[in-house]
Amino acid sequence: MKASWQARMWLSVIGFGGLAASALAAESGPARVTFTKDVLPILQEKCQECHRAGQMAPMSLMTYDEVRPWAKAIRENVSAGKMPPYFADKASLPMKHDQSLSQVQKDTILAWIDSGTTKGSEKDMPAPRKFSESEWRLGDPDVVLQPVEPFDVPAGDGDLYQCFAVPFASANDLWLKGVEFKPDNLKAVHHFILFEDKLGKFKEFDAATPEPGCECEDMDKVLQGTTMVQMWAPGNVQPLARTGEAKKLNAKSNFILQVHYHNTTGEPQVDRSKFALYLAKPEEQVQKEVRGQLVVQPNLFIKAGDPESKFQATYTIKEDITVYSSGVHMHYRGKNMGLWAVRPGETDETTLVWVPNYDFNWQLTYEFAEPWKAPAGTKFTMRCTFDNSTNNPFNPDPTKDVRWGLASTDEMAFSGYSYVVDSEALKSTPEKPKGLVQGPGLVKVSDPEFLGTD
Ligand code: HEC
Repeated sequence: MKASWQARMWLSVIGFGGLAASALAAESGPARVTFTKDVLPILQEKCQECHRAGQMAPMSLMTYDEVRPWAKAIRENVSAGKMPPYFADKASLPMKHDQSLSQVQKDTILAWIDSGTTKGSEKDMPAPRKFSESEWRLGDPDVVLQPVEPFDVPAGDGDLYQCFAVPFASANDLWLKGVEFKPDNLKAVHHFILFEDKLGKFKEFDAATPEPGCECEDMDKVLQGTTMVQMWAPGNVQPLARTGEAKKLNAKSNFILQVHYHNTTGEPQVDRSKFALYLAKPEEQVQKEVRGQLVVQPNLFIKAGDPESKFQATYTIKEDITVYSSGVHMHYRGKNMGLWAVRPGETDETTLVWVPNYDFNWQLTYEFAEPWKAPAGTKFTMRCTFDNSTNNPFNPDPTKDVRWGLASTDEMAFSGYSYVVDSEALKSTPEKPKGLVQGPGLVKVSDPEFLGTD
């Protein structure tokens, strides 16, 4: 009798979100929320991927003793929706790696903290979650690359965009299934963008400065003749391309790794981050090239102090495509952004992704649970809001009018998506790389034959 009353109480309480914590805190006896029974399974599912030794988060949340001292911080971060870092609203298409807490999970964590962080019985403890042995989430890579020399990141908490040459130069075209980044020094690394250098101009810029690589805040100048391959920021893991699909890498291209450093430690840091390539094998015929499209509004004028500066941009496609993922990008004054699409003949827009509380520190890629078909004539619309007022705690200077620019203190506004063209049938047989030169930039090749010395 009592148990079923409690169950009903629990159900009605979770409907009221914040009330759950206090209602349950008052509860004592058998239904009390405990760490071993109620909380640890949630931490395993939604937190431990990052909060364990060797991963990006600052502390491990694997055991009661590790979690208990963080209770207050967990309460703050979870109730504010800051942790886990996942920003797509439920109005978005369902996503593959939706890390967000359900309302029940959120309420359970808060109730556990408010009722005094009870440990509970050891026998309720779930089996520890198993994580992949490989240091790479996507599995064993084919090639691992890094900048030729380590870089001394100066002390000082400004933004530094440093570009590094990463020699590669396969003699033949290759098909890329995926890239994974491995930040070396997370105290200083904020995010990466990897570029393919087709013209080889970067050498001159690099040679003109004594330090490894060169500063490249002015990307138009330094990154002439390059194309973006992929970006990374904490929490961003892009999956391998589907069978028969890949990105093209042109023969003789080298890479440029742009690292955005943001060193707040007050001390110099050293960094030599790496990235791994996953290449298509000859056994797999490539039919479609994975491409990216931005929906961008470069004509920004955001008035000083304006709390709600709105912009939009549209892009209409001319071919039938299949869309796999989306993302949004602004800088410190970004408040919200979304990408919508309306197919020809439809009146209602589909919300592909909607990020109501944008956070510049977390640039995630949102991978749709199901690919989204967009026939020719589909119109994509990006809409966004900037907050250039003092209400915005990230705002570096509310007294300044802001326009488009590369520095984080300037602004940008684009959403985008990855896609394939439905009619494409390339019938291309991938080759192994030829003529790679072993040197300090080439950390590892999975198969010595990949060096192409034969
Ligand atoms: C995608 C990786 C990731 C996941 C998943 C994640 N965190 Fe975090 N967490 C981080 C990183 C990185 C930081 C440090 C940077 C920051 O605070 O933004 C952090 C910071 C925190 C902090 C603040 C620590 C401090 O110094 O005050 C708390 C508390 C926290 N996480 C709790 C959680 C909880 C609880 C979960 C699961 C419900 C979770 N996190 C899931 C990556 C993650």
